[in-house]
Amino acid sequence: MKSLFQLSKTTVIFHWLIAIAMICSVIFGLYLEGLPDEPDKVPLISIHKSVGMLILFAASLRILWRMLEGFFPPLSASPVWQERAAKALHIFLLAATIFMPVSGIMMSLGSGYSVGIFGLELITAGDKNEILAETGEIIHGLGKTLLIIAVLIHVAATIKHSLINKDSTFKRMLGFKVD
Ligand code: HEM
Ligand code: HEM
Repeated sequence: MKSLFQLSKTTVIFHWLIAIAMICSVIFGLYLEGLPDEPDKVPLISIHKSVGMLILFAASLRILWRMLEGFFPPLSASPVWQERAAKALHIFLLAATIFMPVSGIMMSLGSGYSVGIFGLELITAGDKNEILAETGEIIHGLGKTLLIIAVLIHVAATIKHSLINKDSTFKRMLGFKVD
């Protein structure tokens, strides 16, 4: 059910599940990057890869859902440029939930490692491919920086809606019916 005043449960659940998982993955990825390359690190990388793969599945379903349902309109009127910027930012955030895991897969496969979810192997390891690994690493690294900036702007926009526009944008994303 989609209305201007209440978002569908699917939208709300997908948003918070994926938002929390993405934020935790960035933090955990940064932590991993700082660890020395020792055998103890392997199971931790495996957890990062497994969670990332689950995000990829959930994010693909969420994008299909967004295509079926369409984007929902803003609650209060803002200048046209702000509405366009908000939409572009939402599209970028949706894209990041795909290009972060996909570039992670490229890095892993390119370095000769398999990809799976908590022990269930989904893609078997093959020969190393430096170009694939390096392209994946560039997208994963640059993507992470852009994602952090995008999420900061996104959260700032939410705060602006609450404090300046004094509307219920945040409350609506929590699943409440607003007026
Ligand atoms: C604490 C962090 C976050 C807060 C407070 C937050 C808040 C919100 C709010 C209030 C909206 C509704 C905007 C509107 O009504 O126009 C929204 C939409 C959206 N948010 Fe977030 N968000 C957060 C984190 C994230 C993260 C990490 C992502 C993705 C990586 C994300 C992706 C999206 C997308 C794609 C939309 C558009 C609606 C949709 O397609 O579901 N958000 N967010
Ligand atoms: C889904 C969202 C994901 C996010 C937000 C994310 C985020 C990150 C971040 C922030 C880093 C640190 C990179 C840096 O500082 O330059 C990282 C490292 C890494 N990620 Fe991801 N990642 C995700 C998914 C995946 C997936 C699905 C895989 C593989 C299947 C993967 C494989 C890796 C690998 C191998 C590293 C390097 C770890 C190391 O050796 O230090 N990531 N990730």
